Amino acid sequence: MGKKHPCSSSMVWDMKTMFHCSITIFFLGGLATLVSYNYYKNNDQEAAMIKVSLATATFSTANANIDDIDTSTITNATQAGFDHQRRLKIAPPPLTETCDLFSGRWVHDNRSHYPLYKEDECRFLHGDLACQTYGRKDSKYQQWRWQPHGCDFPRFDGKAVVERLKGKRLLFVGDSVNRNQWDSMMCMLYSSIPGSKKLRLSLSKTLYSFKAKDYNISVDYYWAPMLVESNGDDPSNHSLDHRTVRIKSIEKHARHWVDADILVFNTYLWWRLPIIRLLKGPGSLLGGPDQVYDEVNNVRAYKMVLETWSKWVHTHINPEKTKMFFMGLTATHSSAKDWGGKKQATCYKETEPVTVDGFRESGTDPEMLRILESSLSKLKAKGVNVQLMNITQLTQYRKDAHPTVHRRLWRPLTEEQEKNPERASDCTHWCLPGVPDVWNELLLAYIFSTTSQ
Ligand SMILES: *[C@@H]1O[C@H](CO)[C@@H](O)[C@H](O)[C@H]1NC(C)=O
Ligand SMILES: *[C@@H]1O[C@H](CO)[C@@H](O)[C@H](O)[C@H]1NC(C)=O
Ligand SMILES: *[C@@H]1O[C@H](CO)[C@@H](O)[C@H](O)[C@H]1NC(C)=O
Ligand SMILES: *[C@@H]1O[C@H](CO)[C@@H](O)[C@H](O)[C@H]1NC(C)=O
Ligand SMILES: *[C@@H]1O[C@H](CO)[C@@H](O)[C@H](O)[C@H]1NC(C)=O
Repeated sequence: MGKKHPCSSSMVWDMKTMFHCSITIFFLGGLATLVSYNYYKNNDQEAAMIKVSLATATFSTANANIDDIDTSTITNATQAGFDHQRRLKIAPPPLTETCDLFSGRWVHDNRSHYPLYKEDECRFLHGDLACQTYGRKDSKYQQWRWQPHGCDFPRFDGKAVVERLKGKRLLFVGDSVNRNQWDSMMCMLYSSIPGSKKLRLSLSKTLYSFKAKDYNISVDYYWAPMLVESNGDDPSNHSLDHRTVRIKSIEKHARHWVDADILVFNTYLWWRLPIIRLLKGPGSLLGGPDQVYDEVNNVRAYKMVLETWSKWVHTHINPEKTKMFFMGLTATHSSAKDWGGKKQATCYKETEPVTVDGFRESGTDPEMLRILESSLSKLKAKGVNVQLMNITQLTQYRKDAHPTVHRRLWRPLTEEQEKNPERASDCTHWCLPGVPDVWNELLLAYIFSTTSQ
């Protein structure tokens, strides 16, 4: 079974191999964005380098289309003179069915409170998200306000949030986009907690933990890019050309999640390769002679993983005690054709969001969103409420907000890549401060919403 592919070798990846393989995968019919990390362990006296390498492959389907355009929804709230003080004072909204915080538009507002913090004031910020530090010159991408149509959400009020999170453990579980959101939450809180000397960041291989001692707050992230056991479970060493999972085995990871007060899941991008291998029997996830697997298409596998996850949530989590959220799919802007750009271009050098209402980039699979929605409704029917954070549409517009080449890299770009920054760009993750700060404002609106007390 273990057919050798040049891109499947299990050695540490160098950029040249990654580049070569991303091209190979490209010609195999998709577009791969390969990303690697150096996670700088910036914990008080300790300064160990933890190398975290991750590949996110996103496959564009052929149908680049802009659909579902709705032009009837522009509201007055988007006009000049928006009252930020009012937004600060509004109570978290009762989140009724009639108010959809995820349907709205981005408004450029350089008198707003965005960014919520300054990049260089967040000591723990992950180098691959620190875009200004790594040479990004424009900063307009930090100044956009998300404006829901017809309703509003409270702006981030750090002091109040810290008070309300006292004694709680907030845990993000999923892939590097979820880690991106964890980084954002950490930075939002970092600048809001007095006496930052008492803040601690500790990193183990799969669990990152940010703690505010005086408040007994723990904001954590657990690496489980496919939720179930997979060949991506080692954050620093995994195969890139195929995905192998044990589709029914979640306990090994999930036992680390049970004591959280608030759980925020995601998983999506790692299911975007066309074929997923489902390991049967006891063989190793990492290959070898006794590996026996079925190959199924990714959409079917996505449905199956959500079934496994749902079953676990239903039997292990008491929804009276633990609030649960699932982050929706996020856009990747790897194909500028989608917004009328050049054929080979990507998000590189983009400085403005897309303004076409209802825009959808071609890498997003709406069928997978439907599957996620349906899994969550089935759980709800059993009395388990996991709130979907439906951020898919709001991320679609933000082609301007990715790190591109302005991020810490595992190795410096090769000459080849320097010549082709389009292809070497990270169009998957999000600069901080930036778009994930808004996901967190919305998340906090739900966590403290008046109806879900
Ligand atoms: C916008 O404001 C105008 C006048 O101020 C009002 O007539 C209109 O109904 C408002 N539209 C919405 C969607 O609130
Ligand atoms: C704010 O943005 C407007 C355009 O939207 C621009 O004319 C103005 O110079 C900007 N002000 C600052 C302080 O950046
Ligand atoms: C701190 O919070 C945890 C839950 O995250 C709780 O189990 C523990 O008892 C709290 N400790 C103190 C000293 O309040
Ligand atoms: C990566 O994983 C493979 C397969 O388990 C192993 O053979 C190899 O030694 C690992 N490499 C590193 C650098 O840990
Ligand atoms: C989530 O947003 C999409 C638009 O991006 C919409 O089609 C879908 O119905 C929304 N889902 C829910 C459950 O609100």
